[in-house]
Amino acid sequence: MKKPLRKAVLPVAGLGTRFLPATKAVAKEMLPVVDKPLIQYAIEEARAAGIEQFCMITGRGKTALVEHFDIAFELEATLRQRNRVEAMEALKGTMVEPGSMVTVRQQVPHGLGHAIWCARAFIGDDPFAILLPDDLVLSDTPCMKQLADAYNETGGNVVAVVEVPREHTNRYGILKTGADDGRLVEVQGLVEKPAPADAPSNLSIIGRYVLMPEVIGHLAKMERGAGNEVQLTDGMAKLIGNQPFHGLRYEGTRFDCGDKVGFLEAQIAFALARPDLAAAVRAFLPKYS
Ligand code: G1P
Repeated sequence: MKKPLRKAVLPVAGLGTRFLPATKAVAKEMLPVVDKPLIQYAIEEARAAGIEQFCMITGRGKTALVEHFDIAFELEATLRQRNRVEAMEALKGTMVEPGSMVTVRQQVPHGLGHAIWCARAFIGDDPFAILLPDDLVLSDTPCMKQLADAYNETGGNVVAVVEVPREHTNRYGILKTGADDGRLVEVQGLVEKPAPADAPSNLSIIGRYVLMPEVIGHLAKMERGAGNEVQLTDGMAKLIGNQPFHGLRYEGTRFDCGDKVGFLEAQIAFALARPDLAAAVRAFLPKYS
């Protein structure tokens, strides 16, 4: 029997140095794409996959992330008094069930694997999702829902994957692939950020995972990998052979919002996907090309 997927971990402790000065006093996950912060896209995507419990791995200077999902009493009272229906509607996605969101602090920046290990008490013995808010996916079916559906088919671990140019393998976790039906691919090995010459394929992991709790035991050993960090990819690699492990070629377009150009492209793509903005954006775009 597969345990249902109900938990999501969201690592948000990064310093966001690539977006300074914007991220000096504002968490990078609070930067908006159009009018919604990155963290809210991630929470809404998780919710659309049936996830009910959320754990943000935070750090110093990240309190706005917690505030964002709390009731803003004065604001809501003022909006109600002024009958600002649209504005009240805009706040709906920020409401979470009481007690459904917790935070854990990653006191030291020892890598993504270490961040996930910090959520071990929240994860317990359950399967869990990971969403990296920097990776934003525009798709018909939310990317995490596609992963949850794949998990219900295959059981075990499932990661979202996409082909990247070979010269970019050193930016991502890369798969060594087995049986491949064009959609689901069996994972035979995983390498974090290999040089193009050493990469076992050009199939890369994006920031969407469904993992089994056993990964925590491997991460707990705190073995250092690429960049001298505790790598999630290395912990996941230890599961291969003991549990099903698949990559899912998701439907949709991924934007790397940790990168300036990726972030700008996401603004345009998400604005064009919005019925209230598409025409106006389409009208000005030719001026800049
Ligand atoms: C992390 C993971 C990497 C994955 C990537 C997806 O890298 O370590 O395996 O491919 O996210 O965005 P980071 O972007 O934190 O360097």
